[in-house]
Amino acid sequence: MTVLPDPLRAAFRAVPREPFLPAAQRGRAEIDAPLPIGAGQTNSQPSTVADMLSLLEVRPGHRVLDLGAGSGWTTALLAQLVGPDGSVIGLERQEQLLGPARAALAAHDPAGVAEIRRARPGVLGAPEDAPFDRILVSAGAEQLPQELLEQLADPGVLVIPVREQMLRIVREGEDVRQSVHGAYRFVPLVEDPG
Ligand SMILES: C[S@@+](CC[C@H](N)C(=O)[O-])C[C@H]1O[C@@H](n2cnc3c(N)ncnc32)[C@H](O)[C@@H]1O
Repeated sequence: MTVLPDPLRAAFRAVPREPFLPAAQRGRAEIDAPLPIGAGQTNSQPSTVADMLSLLEVRPGHRVLDLGAGSGWTTALLAQLVGPDGSVIGLERQEQLLGPARAALAAHDPAGVAEIRRARPGVLGAPEDAPFDRILVSAGAEQLPQELLEQLADPGVLVIPVREQMLRIVREGEDVRQSVHGAYRFVPLVEDPG
């Protein structure tokens, strides 16, 4: 794991991975590997989550979209990072993951700034709640989705794996800059979550 900024270290301390895992996986929480959470999906590898959150540079008060909430772990970590003046919307397309993710989140979001919603058919992201200061995508895309760029605030940052490369997109006015931050494997982003 890379050296983490203090707020990120504090967030990982406040939000352990274990309660976000199915009972049968909890004994493996310390392993730095993705772990199955049901519906063919995974709770992401901790070092990958740390890398992505480092790139995202979340600040207190930010409005954040967590696309691919899965177990709810990243949603809860983001809730810690935005603090009581921010907000986080987690989106998940697999119905069966919503209950456990919401239950674990409720126990780790004392300020109640985060929620997990079922992704809507035909809609990528949450355009009705845009713009977002930060967007985290924890599933692998084939190309950079224009819909998500349109949901970014100005300025705004999007972190997303595209064709197994971690991209950091910074929007400032008409200027959209992209940088590449290493190779990562993810479950696929389903463009139409319906
Ligand atoms: C790597 S997994 C979970 C990551 C999660 N942050 C965690 O650590 O538990 C990615 C999730 O993205 C979800 N997903 C894929 N495409 C989606 C979409 N278009 N909208 C919402 N969720 C999506 C999958 O169902 C899966 O649960």
